[in-house]
Amino acid sequence: MNILLTCVGLRVDVVQSFRDALARRGGGLVIGTDSSPIAPALPFCDVAVAAPAAAAPGYAAHVLATAKEHGCSLVLPCSEWDLVELADLGPALAAIGCQAFLPSGEATRRCVDKLAMARHLEAHGLASPRTFDPSELPADLRFPVLVKMREGRGSEGIYRCANQIELDFFLAHTTLPSMVQEACSGTEYSIDVLCDLNGQCIDAIPRSMIQSKGGEQIKGTTIEDPALVEVGRSVAEALGLRGPGTVQCFREAPNRHEVTDVNPRIGGAFPLPLAAGGDYPFRMLALAAGETVAPRLGTYARGVTLSRFYHQVLFGPDGVMLPGLTLAERSQP
Ligand SMILES: Nc1ncnc2c1ncn2[C@@H]1O[C@H](COP(=O)(O)OP(=O)(O)O)[C@@H](O)[C@H]1O
Ligand SMILES: [Mg+2]
Repeated sequence: MNILLTCVGLRVDVVQSFRDALARRGGGLVIGTDSSPIAPALPFCDVAVAAPAAAAPGYAAHVLATAKEHGCSLVLPCSEWDLVELADLGPALAAIGCQAFLPSGEATRRCVDKLAMARHLEAHGLASPRTFDPSELPADLRFPVLVKMREGRGSEGIYRCANQIELDFFLAHTTLPSMVQEACSGTEYSIDVLCDLNGQCIDAIPRSMIQSKGGEQIKGTTIEDPALVEVGRSVAEALGLRGPGTVQCFREAPNRHEVTDVNPRIGGAFPLPLAAGGDYPFRMLALAAGETVAPRLGTYARGVTLSRFYHQVLFGPDGVMLPGLTLAERSQP
Protein backbone atom coordinates (compact mmCIF):
# COMPACT_ATOMS: atom_id res chain seq x y z
CA MET A 1 0.00 0.00 0.00
CA ASN A 2 1.38 3.42 -0.98
CA ILE A 3 0.23 6.65 0.61
CA LEU A 4 0.35 10.34 -0.26
CA LEU A 5 1.20 13.01 2.32
CA THR A 6 0.69 16.55 0.99
CA CYS A 7 2.30 19.82 2.10
CA VAL A 8 4.74 17.77 4.21
CA GLY A 9 6.69 20.92 5.16
CA LEU A 10 8.21 20.44 8.60
CA ARG A 11 6.34 17.24 9.39
CA VAL A 12 9.25 14.80 9.60
CA ASP A 13 7.38 13.27 12.57
CA VAL A 14 4.36 12.43 10.41
CA VAL A 15 6.45 11.05 7.54
CA GLN A 16 8.53 8.86 9.87
CA SER A 17 5.49 7.50 11.71
CA PHE A 18 3.75 6.53 8.46
CA ARG A 19 6.90 4.86 7.15
CA ASP A 20 7.06 2.90 10.38
CA ALA A 21 3.35 1.98 10.22
CA LEU A 22 3.67 0.87 6.58
CA ALA A 23 6.66 -1.32 7.45
CA ARG A 24 4.64 -2.96 10.23
CA ARG A 25 1.84 -3.68 7.77
CA GLY A 26 4.14 -5.35 5.26
CA GLY A 27 5.53 -2.43 3.29
CA GLY A 28 4.58 0.45 1.06
CA LEU A 29 5.90 3.84 0.06
CA VAL A 30 5.34 7.31 1.48
CA ILE A 31 4.95 9.77 -1.39
CA GLY A 32 5.40 13.32 -0.08
CA THR A 33 4.68 16.62 -1.79
CA ASP A 34 5.63 20.20 -1.09
CA SER A 35 5.94 23.36 -3.14
CA SER A 36 9.38 24.07 -1.63
CA PRO A 37 12.23 21.81 -2.80
CA ILE A 38 13.95 22.39 0.56
CA ALA A 39 10.96 21.44 2.76
CA PRO A 40 12.77 19.52 5.55
CA ALA A 41 10.34 16.57 5.49
CA LEU A 42 10.77 15.86 1.76
CA PRO A 43 14.08 13.92 1.98
CA PHE A 44 12.48 11.62 4.57
CA CYS A 45 9.79 10.49 2.09
CA ASP A 46 10.38 7.43 -0.10
CA VAL A 47 9.35 9.54 -3.09
CA ALA A 48 9.53 13.34 -3.00
CA VAL A 49 7.33 15.18 -5.49
CA ALA A 50 7.49 18.91 -6.25
CA ALA A 51 3.99 20.37 -6.10
CA PRO A 52 2.49 23.71 -7.09
CA ALA A 53 1.52 26.04 -4.23
CA ALA A 54 -1.78 24.98 -2.64
CA ALA A 55 -3.45 28.20 -3.81
CA ALA A 56 -2.28 27.76 -7.44
CA PRO A 57 -4.93 26.82 -10.03
CA GLY A 58 -3.58 23.34 -10.93
CA TYR A 59 -3.07 22.17 -7.33
CA ALA A 60 -5.98 19.71 -7.02
CA ALA A 61 -5.28 18.19 -10.44
CA HIS A 62 -1.66 17.69 -9.41
CA VAL A 63 -2.64 15.85 -6.21
CA LEU A 64 -5.05 13.63 -8.13
CA ALA A 65 -2.45 12.83 -10.80
CA THR A 66 0.22 12.08 -8.15
CA ALA A 67 -2.12 9.75 -6.22
CA LYS A 68 -2.98 7.96 -9.45
CA GLU A 69 0.60 7.68 -10.71
CA HIS A 70 1.81 6.08 -7.46
CA GLY A 71 -1.27 3.97 -6.80
CA CYS A 72 -1.92 5.62 -3.43
CA SER A 73 -4.68 4.29 -1.14
CA LEU A 74 -4.62 7.20 1.29
CA VAL A 75 -4.15 10.96 1.06
CA LEU A 76 -3.45 13.02 4.15
CA PRO A 77 -2.75 16.77 4.31
CA CYS A 78 0.04 17.60 6.77
CA SER A 79 -0.71 21.33 7.13
CA GLU A 80 -3.62 23.75 6.88
CA TRP A 81 -2.67 25.09 3.46
CA ASP A 82 -4.53 22.64 1.22
CA LEU A 83 -7.37 21.43 3.47
CA VAL A 84 -10.23 22.90 1.45
CA GLU A 85 -8.69 21.94 -1.91
CA LEU A 86 -8.24 18.32 -0.80
CA ALA A 87 -11.66 18.09 0.85
CA ASP A 88 -13.32 19.02 -2.45
CA LEU A 89 -11.16 16.42 -4.18
CA GLY A 90 -12.45 13.57 -1.95
CA PRO A 91 -14.96 12.10 -4.45
CA ALA A 92 -12.46 12.18 -7.36
CA LEU A 93 -9.84 10.45 -5.19
CA ALA A 94 -12.39 7.84 -4.05
CA ALA A 95 -13.09 7.11 -7.71
CA ILE A 96 -9.46 5.94 -8.11
CA GLY A 97 -9.58 3.89 -4.89
CA CYS A 98 -7.88 6.46 -2.71
CA GLN A 99 -9.34 7.66 0.60
CA ALA A 100 -8.86 11.30 1.55
CA PHE A 101 -8.47 11.46 5.33
CA LEU A 102 -10.28 14.69 5.91
CA PRO A 103 -13.93 15.74 6.12
CA SER A 104 -16.24 16.65 3.24
CA GLY A 105 -15.77 20.07 1.66
CA GLU A 106 -18.72 21.43 3.64
CA ALA A 107 -17.44 20.07 6.98
CA THR A 108 -13.88 21.25 6.29
CA ARG A 109 -15.08 24.80 5.50
CA ARG A 110 -17.07 24.72 8.74
CA CYS A 111 -13.89 24.06 10.74
CA VAL A 112 -11.80 26.58 8.81
CA ASP A 113 -14.38 29.36 9.42
CA LYS A 114 -14.43 29.78 13.21
CA LEU A 115 -17.72 31.74 13.15
CA ALA A 116 -19.51 28.99 11.19
CA MET A 117 -18.01 26.43 13.58
CA ALA A 118 -19.24 28.22 16.70
CA ARG A 119 -22.75 28.43 15.21
CA HIS A 120 -22.75 24.77 14.21
CA LEU A 121 -21.63 23.68 17.68
CA GLU A 122 -24.29 25.82 19.32
CA ALA A 123 -26.96 24.29 17.06
CA HIS A 124 -25.79 20.85 18.24
CA GLY A 125 -25.97 21.75 21.92
CA LEU A 126 -22.17 21.96 22.31
CA ALA A 127 -20.51 24.86 24.08
CA SER A 128 -18.27 27.49 22.57
CA PRO A 129 -17.59 31.06 23.74
CA ARG A 130 -20.31 33.48 22.61
CA THR A 131 -19.22 34.45 19.09
CA PHE A 132 -20.68 37.20 16.88
CA ASP A 133 -20.40 38.72 13.47
CA PRO A 134 -19.16 42.33 14.02
CA SER A 135 -22.43 43.61 12.51
CA GLU A 136 -24.55 41.75 15.08
CA LEU A 137 -23.00 42.56 18.45
CA PRO A 138 -25.44 42.25 21.37
CA ALA A 139 -25.98 44.96 23.97
CA ASP A 140 -24.85 42.62 26.75
CA LEU A 141 -21.44 41.76 25.22
CA ARG A 142 -19.14 40.68 28.07
CA PHE A 143 -15.61 42.11 27.98
CA PRO A 144 -12.83 41.17 27.55
CA VAL A 145 -13.49 39.98 24.00
CA LEU A 146 -11.24 38.92 21.15
CA VAL A 147 -11.39 40.21 17.60
CA LYS A 148 -10.42 37.03 15.75
CA MET A 149 -9.82 36.43 12.09
CA ARG A 150 -12.54 34.00 10.96
CA GLU A 151 -10.09 31.86 9.00
CA GLY A 152 -7.14 32.44 11.32
CA ARG A 153 -4.36 29.96 11.96
CA GLY A 154 -1.14 29.95 13.91
CA SER A 155 -2.63 32.43 16.42
CA GLU A 156 -2.61 35.17 13.77
CA GLY A 157 -5.12 38.02 13.57
CA ILE A 158 -6.25 37.85 17.22
CA TYR A 159 -6.66 41.08 19.23
CA ARG A 160 -7.74 41.21 22.86
CA CYS A 161 -10.06 44.08 23.74
CA ALA A 162 -10.76 45.14 27.33
CA ASN A 163 -13.57 47.56 26.49
CA GLN A 164 -15.71 49.10 23.74
CA ILE A 165 -13.05 51.68 22.79
CA GLU A 166 -10.46 48.97 22.14
CA LEU A 167 -13.04 46.86 20.31
CA ASP A 168 -13.94 49.73 17.97
CA PHE A 169 -10.24 50.35 17.36
CA PHE A 170 -9.37 46.74 16.48
CA LEU A 171 -12.46 46.23 14.32
CA ALA A 172 -11.42 49.29 12.32
CA HIS A 173 -7.75 48.21 12.35
CA THR A 174 -8.12 44.65 11.06
CA THR A 175 -8.34 44.22 7.29
CA LEU A 176 -9.32 40.54 7.29
CA PRO A 177 -12.83 39.10 7.77
CA SER A 178 -13.10 38.83 11.54
CA MET A 179 -15.53 37.95 14.32
CA VAL A 180 -15.92 38.95 17.95
CA GLN A 181 -15.59 36.22 20.56
CA GLU A 182 -15.90 36.52 24.32
CA ALA A 183 -12.65 35.62 26.04
CA CYS A 184 -12.42 32.47 28.12
CA SER A 185 -10.72 32.60 31.50
CA GLY A 186 -10.35 28.90 32.29
CA THR A 187 -7.57 26.45 31.46
CA GLU A 188 -7.00 25.56 27.82
CA TYR A 189 -6.79 21.93 26.65
CA SER A 190 -6.38 20.15 23.36
CA ILE A 191 -7.67 16.72 22.35
CA ASP A 192 -6.20 14.72 19.48
CA VAL A 193 -9.03 12.75 17.90
CA LEU A 194 -9.24 10.08 15.22
CA CYS A 195 -12.48 9.39 13.34
CA ASP A 196 -13.14 6.53 10.98
CA LEU A 197 -14.27 7.07 7.40
CA ASN A 198 -17.93 7.14 8.48
CA GLY A 199 -17.30 9.88 11.04
CA GLN A 200 -17.36 7.74 14.18
CA CYS A 201 -14.73 8.88 16.68
CA ILE A 202 -12.46 5.93 17.50
CA ASP A 203 -9.93 7.71 19.73
CA ALA A 204 -9.57 10.96 21.67
CA ILE A 205 -6.43 11.77 23.67
CA PRO A 206 -6.52 14.91 25.86
CA ARG A 207 -3.46 16.94 26.78
CA SER A 208 -2.65 19.97 28.83
CA MET A 209 -1.18 22.92 26.94
CA ILE A 210 1.86 23.81 29.00
CA GLN A 211 3.44 26.14 26.44
CA SER A 212 2.79 27.22 22.85
CA LYS A 213 4.90 29.31 20.48
CA GLY A 214 3.49 30.83 17.31
CA GLY A 215 0.38 28.65 17.50
CA GLU A 216 2.37 25.43 17.89
CA GLN A 217 2.33 23.53 21.14
CA ILE A 218 5.87 22.94 22.34
CA LYS A 219 5.15 21.49 25.79
CA GLY A 220 2.17 19.37 26.87
CA THR A 221 1.20 16.29 28.87
CA THR A 222 -1.46 13.63 28.31
CA ILE A 223 -3.91 13.71 31.19
CA GLU A 224 -6.52 11.51 32.85
CA ASP A 225 -9.73 13.37 32.00
CA PRO A 226 -12.85 11.48 30.87
CA ALA A 227 -14.81 14.73 30.40
CA LEU A 228 -12.27 15.94 27.81
CA VAL A 229 -12.34 12.58 26.01
CA GLU A 230 -16.10 13.06 25.69
CA VAL A 231 -15.70 16.66 24.47
CA GLY A 232 -13.31 15.41 21.79
CA ARG A 233 -15.65 12.62 20.72
CA SER A 234 -18.86 14.66 20.66
CA VAL A 235 -17.33 17.68 18.90
CA ALA A 236 -15.52 15.55 16.30
CA GLU A 237 -18.73 13.69 15.47
CA ALA A 238 -20.93 16.82 15.46
CA LEU A 239 -18.59 18.60 13.04
CA GLY A 240 -18.33 15.58 10.74
CA LEU A 241 -14.58 14.96 11.08
CA ARG A 242 -13.06 12.09 9.13
CA GLY A 243 -9.51 10.99 9.91
CA PRO A 244 -7.39 12.87 12.45
CA GLY A 245 -8.19 16.21 14.08
CA THR A 246 -7.59 18.38 17.10
CA VAL A 247 -10.26 19.95 19.31
CA GLN A 248 -9.23 22.89 21.51
CA CYS A 249 -11.33 24.05 24.42
CA PHE A 250 -11.29 25.99 27.68
CA ARG A 251 -12.68 24.50 30.91
CA GLU A 252 -14.85 27.37 32.16
CA ALA A 253 -16.56 25.35 34.91
CA PRO A 254 -16.13 21.71 36.04
CA ASN A 255 -18.61 20.57 33.43
CA ARG A 256 -18.47 23.36 30.88
CA HIS A 257 -15.93 23.13 28.06
CA GLU A 258 -16.05 25.94 25.52
CA VAL A 259 -14.62 24.92 22.15
CA THR A 260 -12.52 27.61 20.44
CA ASP A 261 -10.74 25.83 17.59
CA VAL A 262 -11.03 22.56 15.67
CA ASN A 263 -8.41 21.56 13.11
CA PRO A 264 -9.54 18.76 10.77
CA ARG A 265 -6.00 17.46 10.29
CA ILE A 266 -3.19 15.69 12.09
CA GLY A 267 -2.23 17.77 15.14
CA GLY A 268 0.93 19.83 15.40
CA ALA A 269 1.77 18.02 18.65
CA PHE A 270 1.13 14.61 17.04
CA PRO A 271 4.25 12.87 18.51
CA LEU A 272 2.56 13.14 21.92
CA PRO A 273 -0.62 11.09 21.22
CA LEU A 274 1.59 8.71 19.23
CA ALA A 275 3.89 8.18 22.22
CA ALA A 276 0.82 7.74 24.44
CA GLY A 277 -0.19 4.69 22.41
CA GLY A 278 -2.57 6.33 19.93
CA ASP A 279 -1.17 4.66 16.84
CA TYR A 280 -3.20 6.79 14.42
CA PRO A 281 -1.03 6.13 11.32
CA PHE A 282 -1.36 2.35 11.70
CA ARG A 283 -5.11 2.63 12.23
CA MET A 284 -5.51 4.98 9.25
CA LEU A 285 -3.75 2.42 7.04
CA ALA A 286 -6.17 -0.25 8.28
CA LEU A 287 -9.14 2.04 7.57
CA ALA A 288 -7.80 2.82 4.09
CA ALA A 289 -7.55 -0.94 3.47
CA GLY A 290 -11.27 -1.24 4.27
CA GLU A 291 -10.75 -2.99 7.61
CA THR A 292 -12.97 -2.36 10.62
CA VAL A 293 -11.09 -0.56 13.39
CA ALA A 294 -12.70 -0.78 16.83
CA PRO A 295 -13.00 2.39 18.95
CA ARG A 296 -10.40 2.58 21.72
CA LEU A 297 -11.36 5.72 23.61
CA GLY A 298 -9.71 6.24 26.98
CA THR A 299 -6.95 3.63 26.60
CA TYR A 300 -4.03 6.06 26.11
CA ALA A 301 -1.11 6.39 28.53
CA ARG A 302 -1.51 9.25 31.00
CA GLY A 303 1.36 11.53 32.06
CA VAL A 304 3.37 11.36 28.83
CA THR A 305 5.04 14.75 28.22
CA LEU A 306 6.12 16.37 24.96
CA SER A 307 8.91 18.94 25.08
CA ARG A 308 10.05 20.16 21.70
CA PHE A 309 13.34 21.45 20.34
CA TYR A 310 14.53 22.65 16.96
CA HIS A 311 16.27 20.42 14.51
CA GLN A 312 17.31 20.89 10.89
CA VAL A 313 18.12 19.35 7.59
CA LEU A 314 21.10 20.56 5.55
CA PHE A 315 21.17 20.36 1.77
CA GLY A 316 24.36 20.28 -0.33
CA PRO A 317 24.85 22.47 -3.43
CA ASP A 318 23.20 19.71 -5.48
CA GLY A 319 20.04 19.98 -3.37
CA VAL A 320 20.57 16.56 -1.78
CA MET A 321 20.32 16.22 1.99
CA LEU A 322 23.78 15.99 3.58
CA PRO A 323 24.34 12.72 5.44
CA GLY A 324 25.22 12.36 9.08
CA LEU A 325 23.25 15.34 10.28
CA THR A 326 19.75 13.95 10.67
CA LEU A 327 18.18 12.96 13.94
CA ALA A 328 17.86 9.34 12.88
CA GLU A 329 21.57 9.11 12.17
CA ARG A 330 22.70 10.57 15.46
CA SER A 331 23.51 8.46 18.45
CA GLN A 332 21.21 8.58 21.47
CA PRO A 333 22.24 11.02 24.23
N1 LIG B 1 -12.18 32.79 23.28
C1 LIG B 1 -10.91 32.75 23.68
N2 LIG B 1 -10.58 33.08 24.95
C2 LIG B 1 -9.29 33.08 25.39
N3 LIG B 1 -8.25 32.75 24.62
C3 LIG B 1 -8.50 32.41 23.33
C4 LIG B 1 -9.84 32.38 22.80
N4 LIG B 1 -9.75 32.01 21.51
C5 LIG B 1 -8.46 31.80 21.24
N5 LIG B 1 -7.69 32.05 22.32
C6 LIG B 1 -6.21 31.90 22.42
O1 LIG B 1 -5.62 32.14 21.17
C7 LIG B 1 -4.96 30.97 20.67
C8 LIG B 1 -5.20 30.83 19.18
O2 LIG B 1 -6.59 30.79 18.91
P1 LIG B 1 -7.28 29.62 18.09
O3 LIG B 1 -8.74 29.85 18.11
O4 LIG B 1 -6.81 28.30 18.59
O5 LIG B 1 -6.77 29.91 16.63
P2 LIG B 1 -5.62 29.26 15.69
O6 LIG B 1 -6.37 28.68 14.54
O7 LIG B 1 -4.78 30.41 15.30
O8 LIG B 1 -4.91 28.19 16.49
C9 LIG B 1 -5.55 29.82 21.48
O9 LIG B 1 -4.66 28.74 21.61
C10 LIG B 1 -5.88 30.48 22.80
O10 LIG B 1 -4.76 30.45 23.70
MG1 LIG C 1 -5.63 26.71 17.73
